[in-house]
Amino acid sequence: MKLGFIGTGKITDAVVRGFCTSAVAGVEIFVSPRNTGIANALVEAFPNVQKMTTNQAVVDAAEIVFVAVRPPVALAVLSELRFSSAQQVISFVPLLKQADLFAAVQPATRVGRAIPLPSVVYHNCPIPLFNISPQIAELFRYIGQPLLVNSEAELHAIWTLTGLISPYYHLLYELSKWTISHGVAAETAHQYVADLFQSLSHMAQQQQPIDFKKLAAHAATPNGMNEQAAKEITEKGAHQVYAAACDRLLTRF
Ligand SMILES: NC(=O)c1ccc[n+]([C@@H]2O[C@H](COP(=O)([O-])OP(=O)(O)OC[C@H]3O[C@@H](n4cnc5c(N)ncnc54)[C@H](OP(=O)(O)O)[C@@H]3O)[C@@H](O)[C@H]2O)c1
Repeated sequence: MKLGFIGTGKITDAVVRGFCTSAVAGVEIFVSPRNTGIANALVEAFPNVQKMTTNQAVVDAAEIVFVAVRPPVALAVLSELRFSSAQQVISFVPLLKQADLFAAVQPATRVGRAIPLPSVVYHNCPIPLFNISPQIAELFRYIGQPLLVNSEAELHAIWTLTGLISPYYHLLYELSKWTISHGVAAETAHQYVADLFQSLSHMAQQQQPIDFKKLAAHAATPNGMNEQAAKEITEKGAHQVYAAACDRLLTRF
């Protein structure tokens, strides 16, 4: 399978590294020359990666083309390229709507959108997919957990959540800092906070269906620590702050 990447930045770096360290077989990868440093490093690290001299050379070499440039330049970059009807085009660009993407890559018609995150490097990342062929969904399975979504509106709501990565790490940072300030060794505090939240998410993932409210209620023993903290944090409006931030992020789409 021949994979091409237009835009060799952070997410292409992660996706290419994810594929090249996965069990996927028979994959050839063609990356565009920008960013030169990242493209060169990928070529050096993996024998099946080639840096092409132009974006068009990437498109010409690939059966599946991934679009990974920043939103403001995406349409201009695509408008300079000639695609073929046999190609599949998958965009990682949040603000490039399906209809505009479809129009920009004609005569290619198999066109979809995906949200990989840098954790694809560890082959452990949910990857929401919209309008994607079963072949591509299977390909993404090598670097994460494909999640098919039914509409662009759904995709945008889910994409909104990816704006909470930094706030999430800030929360973990604050909890770690508080733990250290109460005498716990920094290494122990960081490890425990990272592992605690990983373990709570893992527990939720095991439920069928997942019911966060039930998990919260189950943990809140009457008069226990969880009931006390949940009450205080809810009353102070922390959860509404997250919902309001998501509302504002969604308007970007
Ligand atoms: N990072 C993530 O976690 C993530 C997750 C999902 C989706 N996305 C989306 O994926 C896209 C790329 O994100 P990113 O984080 O990888 O951004 P990035 O690190 O800024 O990468 C974008 C790359 O595009 C290159 N570029 C600029 N103009 C180009 C052109 N005309 N032709 C070819 N390449 C060009 C840039 O090269 P120079 O460095 O030389 O300027 C840069 O390396 C964005 O739309 C982003 O929203 C990112």
